[in-house]
Amino acid sequence: MTHATARTPEKPAPAAAVPSLDVRDAAVNLGGVKALDGVSLTVESGRLYGLAGPNGSGKSTLLAAISRLLDLTSGSILVGGEDIMRRSPFQVARMGLARTFQTVRLMPQFSVLENAMLGADQSVYGSSFLRQWLMPWWTRSREARVRARAEAALERLHLMDLRDQPPLSLSYGVQRKVEIARALTAEPRLLLLDEPTAGMNRTERDEIGELLLRLRNEGVTQVLVEHDLKMMVDICDHLYVLDSGHLIASGRPTECIREPKVVEAYLGRGRRAAA
Ligand SMILES: Nc1ncnc2c1ncn2[C@@H]1O[C@H](COP(=O)(O)OP(=O)(O)OP(=O)(O)O)[C@@H](O)[C@H]1O
Ligand SMILES: [Mg+2]
Repeated sequence: MTHATARTPEKPAPAAAVPSLDVRDAAVNLGGVKALDGVSLTVESGRLYGLAGPNGSGKSTLLAAISRLLDLTSGSILVGGEDIMRRSPFQVARMGLARTFQTVRLMPQFSVLENAMLGADQSVYGSSFLRQWLMPWWTRSREARVRARAEAALERLHLMDLRDQPPLSLSYGVQRKVEIARALTAEPRLLLLDEPTAGMNRTERDEIGELLLRLRNEGVTQVLVEHDLKMMVDICDHLYVLDSGHLIASGRPTECIREPKVVEAYLGRGRRAAA
């Protein structure tokens, strides 16, 4: 099935829902570069948002700031109405946020299943040494729950046959799928995906597009960074476009990608690179 056929009508935003994510006037300076400059955007619960923009426009920086892997220079970010600027990445994960990274970050010494299990947050998986020693059954039951969640995530990505494989024996596209499974093991309410289909063929991309739509219909709020604008148009409810750290467009994907500023950001960058 292609994205076009998988597209479902735009899901209306819940009327009075607290925004899942509220980015307010966010700025990030990285070594003198304004990676983000006064970016404000909101993400409402249960919708699938696209975050587009040419190379170096600040997409990964924004995801890093939301997941608290990077500090804002100024501005603030709220998740579920709560300011997360003083929260650690671990605490934000416990609020229901999970993410995938632009580059593959799998543990080569672990199997596919074990890598997927790493997505579980520490409240489910972790336990102190003392607790493990005093209550081994408690640790075992938690591990069984995490394993079941990781297996369910692998199932969704059709990866169960590969569960015992070392990840580096797999194609790059399949490794990306393992990363998505790892994020789903956390059973997130807010999922950030940084170019999840990079390295995948068209069929695999379509499968991921359909999975993201299903997740949206299950109520998982998503922010998807993708260079594949067709995919964005096919599956996203709303598109934000960044250029040189600025938000230059926001709206329905079909309309957004036609805006002169967006066309110029993509074409202008290509022209400058070719010059
Ligand atoms: N660690 C860093 N140190 C200095 N500058 C950085 C660093 N990381 C990113 N930048 C710069 O910040 C800007 C935004 O980068 P970012 O990676 O967020 O862009 P992007 O939109 O994700 O690009 P791409 O589509 O290539 O992944 C770029 O100018 C980039 O060169
Ligand atoms: Mg990036």
